[in-house]
Amino acid sequence: MALSVVILAAGQGTRMRSSLPKVLHPIAGKPLVQHVIDTARKLGSESLHLIYGHGGEAVKEIIDGEDCSWVKQEQQLGTGHAVIQALPNLNDDDSVLILYGDVPLIKASTLTDLMEAIPSKGISLLTVKLSDPTGYGRIVRDSEGAVTAIVEHKDATVEQHKIDEVNTGIMALNASDLKRWLGQLTNENAQGEYYLTDVIGMASSEGHSVVGIIAADELEVEGVNNRIQLAKLERHYQSLQALELMSCGVTLSDPSRIDIRGDVDIAQDVSIDIGAILKGKVSIGSGSVIGANCILENCTLGNNVTIKDNSIVEDAIIGDDSSVGPFARIRPGTILKEDVHIGNFVEVKKSTIAKGSKAGHLSYLGDCEIGENVNVGAGTISCNYDGKNKHKTILEDDVFVGSDTQLVAPVRVGKGVTIAAGTTVTSDVSAGALVISRTKQREIANWKRPKK
Ligand code: UD1
Ligand code: CA
Repeated sequence: MALSVVILAAGQGTRMRSSLPKVLHPIAGKPLVQHVIDTARKLGSESLHLIYGHGGEAVKEIIDGEDCSWVKQEQQLGTGHAVIQALPNLNDDDSVLILYGDVPLIKASTLTDLMEAIPSKGISLLTVKLSDPTGYGRIVRDSEGAVTAIVEHKDATVEQHKIDEVNTGIMALNASDLKRWLGQLTNENAQGEYYLTDVIGMASSEGHSVVGIIAADELEVEGVNNRIQLAKLERHYQSLQALELMSCGVTLSDPSRIDIRGDVDIAQDVSIDIGAILKGKVSIGSGSVIGANCILENCTLGNNVTIKDNSIVEDAIIGDDSSVGPFARIRPGTILKEDVHIGNFVEVKKSTIAKGSKAGHLSYLGDCEIGENVNVGAGTISCNYDGKNKHKTILEDDVFVGSDTQLVAPVRVGKGVTIAAGTTVTSDVSAGALVISRTKQREIANWKRPKK
């Protein structure tokens, strides 16, 4: 039996007060609906049906590359009407799982449990108990505890309003049953909508069982309707990720002050101070220390790397035992080999720096190839751009770059060269030489300063 997943994402999301469709708002840097798609993929579903409506073209564009069928719901006439749009795509012998583009934190394990509970001719329904069930569809159970109906808040009696178990909307059932029941749907209710929830009553009255599984974590099944809920779920998601890291042996100075927006692979005995933001694919080797307020994006850090406070590392590889910062910026295409030291206010772009080399202070190294044990003095600038093209600077092993040096690229400085402070290097320098370009110092005795 194949699994088809139908994701409802056609709602307007007016309470977001946004020009961006609701399901494209991000949690942990990823659109809400993408979270749901990724979770559905984990279940091994090859058949995914996305019901879109308002602003749907934008959703399609952003969520591109996803191999799913896009089904347009022209008018939002209710959740049942939304699912009806996908019916022509479903095979009768499929089992169908219904998810929501705005319920991002649903876990694959919960859904697996739900699907395993589908009765042979019935429905498996995910419910949740809420201290304030106002607004939600209430779960009506009989004296034996079997679910017999869902009553929407607006259609419920005063007595039913007291029920604290509510419908999450998430359910699993067989496609043939779903088709039969949705075929009988009417919109004769308080909201004049076609309610998906009516299939519960239909199943029950046909004598089929409806298994209600109560979700343990109410935030896992909470939908996003406004930016307050968006922020709440963001924090919850971040706290789950922080717990996961700590249980894998990572020290977090404050688990509520780290943000992970991507996939991270962090080894044991890494320690991360407050305010870190990890984006994209980040891997950090054991013993590494990340200082306060660092941003790491798509980068690989070796073992025992130190990234000091307020540094930014993007699309770079940092080798074992290297240190960066504080206040350093490592830009895309940078490779630092082992034991490299980059100090404060140093910017490195698209450069490779070999083992044991240092640039401790206030420098710009762009398009450089730097050998081993090179010392780059304070205020060194690679002049890599001529206004049209970028050029390379090569510093071979053991070069000593004096402070306030300009390296006008393209230029190659041979092994062991000493560059005197204040030099502007404009042509290649042979190995072992001293290179100096300075006007000779003059002294004028008893200098009289100008007077007003
Ligand atoms: C629905 C359930 C309710 C449940 C609640 C949980 C029904 C009739 N009611 O109510 O029992 O407690 O969710 O949040 O199902 N959507 C479409 N097309 C439509 C209508 C809705 O795609 O025509 C999508 C929305 O984008 C949203 C979801 O379905 O993601 C739920 O719709 P919403 O209008 O929020 O349903 P509720 O009235 O909250
Ligand atoms: Ca809702």
